[in-house]
Amino acid sequence: MKPSIKSSTLAIPEITQIPRHVTMIMDGNGRWANQRFLPRVAGHSKGLDTVRLMVEECVKHGIEYLTLFAFSSENWRRPPDEVNFLMNLFFKALDHEVARLHTNNIRLRIIGNLQGFSTEIQERIIAAEKLTETNTSLVLTIAANYGGRWDILQATKKALTLHPEISHADMNEEWLSPHLSMAYAPEPDLFIRTGGERRISNFLLWQLAYTEMYFTDTFWPEFDEVAFQKSLDWFKTRERRFGQTGSQVLENTIARNA
Ligand code: IPE
Ligand code: IPE
Ligand code: MG
Repeated sequence: MKPSIKSSTLAIPEITQIPRHVTMIMDGNGRWANQRFLPRVAGHSKGLDTVRLMVEECVKHGIEYLTLFAFSSENWRRPPDEVNFLMNLFFKALDHEVARLHTNNIRLRIIGNLQGFSTEIQERIIAAEKLTETNTSLVLTIAANYGGRWDILQATKKALTLHPEISHADMNEEWLSPHLSMAYAPEPDLFIRTGGERRISNFLLWQLAYTEMYFTDTFWPEFDEVAFQKSLDWFKTRERRFGQTGSQVLENTIARNA
């Protein structure tokens, strides 16, 4: 039986050798292309191959949730040509990839402020989520026009709309967290950022509270199964303490295995 979804700050989650939920910041597309004297956008196209590969890899490893950061709420600041290219790529991917995801029993979910997208893209998103909603293999989440601060704010607004009379004393995690974008998933166990930067860039701020953070210099278009395996091997070596001491963790493990 799958462990129930719990908040890492309210209860200690079950520790597994293989992460249940992996998130990835797919970074370094532009620099990968620049290194090859190609336009930056060539890196985005190539990056789509890595997305396909990572979906396959996660299924292979029995990972239940894969969440990919595709476009941040701050990426609108990029040159209009690059933004247009990314929108077209997103649109085409929704058109071409969804059937394959569906055949492979993969559920697709999109998180982020969808009102920022054209109506065509919004319609495609709704259709793709509907088509794949009963699929039971991997849950693939794409974060698009997503910002961690936006997420916390939109959840607060929803919670207050539902409970307008709530007193300050009653505002707690259980009141807020059901309205966060990823309320359907356990918190990420493993975070991977490619491309060499060691920052969160306004990704899942709330949900990453106790996530193991893995950074690699490899650019996203070059991130492959070997590089991914390295991150999974690293994950296995982490001692996840969730605020406890190392000896408490050891005692718990011994008690569980007894
Ligand atoms: C990540 O690659 C893709 C998006 C942010 C959409 P970048 O485009 O940020 O690539 P670099 O960081 O400039 O190399
Ligand atoms: C983060 O990458 C967003 C995505 C990968 C979608 P950025 O390249 O936008 O992040 P910064 O600007 O370097 O922090
Ligand atoms: Mg970048």
